[in-house]
Amino acid sequence: MTATQSRWLEQELRYDSGVYTKHTHVIVRGEGAHVWDEEGREYIDCIGGYGVANVGHANPEVVSAIAEQASRLMVLPQSVPNDRRSEFLTELAATLPSGLDRIFLCNSGAEAVEAAMKFSMTATGRHRFVAMKRGFSGRTLGAVSLTWDPAYREPFMPLIGPVEFVPFGDSEALRAAIDDQTAAVLIEPVQGEGGVRPATAEFLQAAREAAHAHGALFLLDEIQTGFCRTGKMFAQEHFGVVPDGMTLAKAMAGGVPIGAFAMREEIAKKMPKGGHGTTFGGNPLAMAAGLAALRFMKNHRLWESAAAQGERLISGLRSISNSKIREVRGLGLMVGVELKEKAAPYLEALERDHQILALQATPLVMRFLPPLVISPEDVDRVVAAVAAVLADR
Ligand SMILES: Cc1ncc(COP(=O)(O)O)c(C=O)c1O
Repeated sequence: MTATQSRWLEQELRYDSGVYTKHTHVIVRGEGAHVWDEEGREYIDCIGGYGVANVGHANPEVVSAIAEQASRLMVLPQSVPNDRRSEFLTELAATLPSGLDRIFLCNSGAEAVEAAMKFSMTATGRHRFVAMKRGFSGRTLGAVSLTWDPAYREPFMPLIGPVEFVPFGDSEALRAAIDDQTAAVLIEPVQGEGGVRPATAEFLQAAREAAHAHGALFLLDEIQTGFCRTGKMFAQEHFGVVPDGMTLAKAMAGGVPIGAFAMREEIAKKMPKGGHGTTFGGNPLAMAAGLAALRFMKNHRLWESAAAQGERLISGLRSISNSKIREVRGLGLMVGVELKEKAAPYLEALERDHQILALQATPLVMRFLPPLVISPEDVDRVVAAVAAVLADR
């Protein structure tokens, strides 16, 4: 280890809050689907910033939009109109399912979920929520109320609610859980943290109908699934369901922090002036980055690359013959390999021996969220490496 190396790592470990389990390499640069560590070693990045880097690291169009905007105007609160924000809102509204054309802008996924909760409360006058077992909605106090894993919630009780968690995919349990006190039901169309589990159209339809039968809102969390990740601009297109509101974040601004809650007009209208807000939300820098990222996705039909490379990755992984694999699941380039044993040692081996970064979803699932610009050759390298690490141990 060089002197510089130990300095970066040591200082980060010394001053960081300690809440993260850290990888051991210091990553200093990225381009497309690749990142490099401080020693110049190249990796295929299937962490993709936790599903943020859809348009690729250092995407030249996003980079030049940020540089241009940074030298012009970086910060301006949403009470003051702005040319970039106006353009971004118009572009995003045109991208979203029709009807979701009122957009609250914020800075992260958890903030988008917080906004969804507050707008649901003011729209319905209720404060009861229905969420999914194995669902993940973030870790701020509102969002964590809708996150299922007791390890994330229990130290911080009491939380917002009551919240009832129903088994993902169980339409009967869902119908039984929604009543006249329910403000909203929130569902990820493909559960990410929960182990990469796609929903069914039948389940999402049932959720929508049951919510509407009781005057509750049907909300989709597209924070991880949105912006081409699953092979469509939004995952809801796979299932033919349009929600009353959608939470968005991650890939929306090509890597710059951003979040949004997009909703129907009647919902937005019920929030009193000043009932919600944020200093950084809708800042011109994020708006410029978001505009460039959205245009890149559309101009390059990025959903098609995600669908094609996702199919290649899933079928490659399914062709691995190894009794440690229980199931390969996914949609587009949101892909999970569920093992019959803990995934962590295999993820470490992928990084150490094959220079492939990937992440975990539940202790048993290896999860792959590469930039959607990944090449077929890199997809094949990932498949070969997974086969090798599973065969090795
Ligand atoms: C589906 C989903 N919702 C919400 C969040 C929270 O987003 P953030 O980490 O930006 O707060 C995440 C993050 O992984 C997510 O995957």
